[in-house]
Amino acid sequence: MEMDAISRRSFLKHMGVAGALAYSTGTGAFGQAPTQPPTGNSEFSATDAMQAATRAQRMAWWHAAKFGMFIHWGLYSVLGQHEWAMEAEGIPIPQYELMAKHFHPKPNAAREWARLAKRAGQKYMVMTTKHHEGFCMFDTKLTNYCAPKQGPGRDLVREYVEAARAEGLRVGFYYSLMDWHHPDGALCKTDEAARKRFVAYTHGLIRELMTNYGKIDVLWYDVDWPLTPEQWESERMNQMVFELQPEIIVNNRNGLDGDFSTPEQHIQAAKMGRAWETCMTLNDSWGYNRGDDSWKTPKAIVSNLATCAAGGGNYLLNIGPKPDGSVPAESVEILDAVGKWLDINGKAIYQTQRGSFAGHPPNANFTRNGNTLYIHEKYWPGVTPAAQWLSFFQPGVVVAIGGLKAKVKSARLLKTGQNVTFSQDEPLHLRLTGLPVEAPDSPSTVIEVECESEPIIDAWGIVPLWPRYKVDIS
Ligand code: GLC
Repeated sequence: MEMDAISRRSFLKHMGVAGALAYSTGTGAFGQAPTQPPTGNSEFSATDAMQAATRAQRMAWWHAAKFGMFIHWGLYSVLGQHEWAMEAEGIPIPQYELMAKHFHPKPNAAREWARLAKRAGQKYMVMTTKHHEGFCMFDTKLTNYCAPKQGPGRDLVREYVEAARAEGLRVGFYYSLMDWHHPDGALCKTDEAARKRFVAYTHGLIRELMTNYGKIDVLWYDVDWPLTPEQWESERMNQMVFELQPEIIVNNRNGLDGDFSTPEQHIQAAKMGRAWETCMTLNDSWGYNRGDDSWKTPKAIVSNLATCAAGGGNYLLNIGPKPDGSVPAESVEILDAVGKWLDINGKAIYQTQRGSFAGHPPNANFTRNGNTLYIHEKYWPGVTPAAQWLSFFQPGVVVAIGGLKAKVKSARLLKTGQNVTFSQDEPLHLRLTGLPVEAPDSPSTVIEVECESEPIIDAWGIVPLWPRYKVDIS
């Protein structure tokens, strides 16, 4: 396909009426608008056009999946001091290289990750095939600095791919463009001959990854320092990737927009119609970091997952295996707790669509699937003195949601299936009544609420309607 930029108009002509309609209405699978053009560019390339035309179909599984496992594993795991140690501590290359000789992971450690991901309810995995340190975890003809030719003596990416597939999980490859080890990795910024060599090396490694492991579902580029997308020849890079893997999805970190945005360590929904995935660590480090004990709680993870789903996004949650490949016990414990919750409450996460939920206190997260609202009550009200006093009006424990702009038909607890009684003073408040004193589930209790229309929540918008403002709303 031609790499020249083509105009929006000629793209629409190419796509025909159906393509143009999907494009302009901005709706696609799961309420996303995967045919949206790349951001910021009025002109876009033939590769962009091809990606846009197939995006809805390529990304359908990913939108439904919602939850993935990120794996940062490499020589830095041997050091156990964060994956940036080489740069941050100024470790000379010859010294750092020694770790390649002393990297002896146990066989098939990836099976442990894949089983853990499965138990945790994660539907895809993304492993570091090469991080900034430059060490290739896979077999390559382009360098000896790779797992089969060093300490491990085998292709660790192949083991990972096989392990993920054995558990029915989709397979993603992380690949860092930035390379602290390659002699041209920094020189390429100022030396054109070095740039050409380094770009050929980079494209060559990506070609091997896209050729030697069967069908790959996600290509997750990282850090495009020190070159511009033009210098990386990112258009040509993506074109090659799609030629080799027509169904793959790619992120936006080779300087192009790709298929999805990648907010890091925070949750930020992209603008309507743009797919996004928050990546996040379980503690404060991506690579194994022996001393890092800042573990997030299962409650925080479940809440983050729901927040991502509420905004139509995905959550890619990281593990940093030890040098032998085993997963830190704390990570296993957290992920198992999340998986137990998802076993019961998966309906409230998978296949949900972006919703409109505004202005509510942090007691609950909300997700929705069509006209069904899921209230994820994080801080169960229990019976406080105030609640006892309120029970004069409403007996039992009450969960109250202000500003729900949809008529409720029924409600039930996902944990027990028990129907929940309710009263509604639409759109001022929904009161779910007669609930158990103790939270029925942990880390959050989900109440499934069937509505007659899309359950939009706008707690700010109803402020003028409250009787205490004495506003005539007739
Ligand atoms: C950053 C870091 C890197 C990590 C990545 C994950 O780019 O440099 O260490 O792999 O984020 O998103």
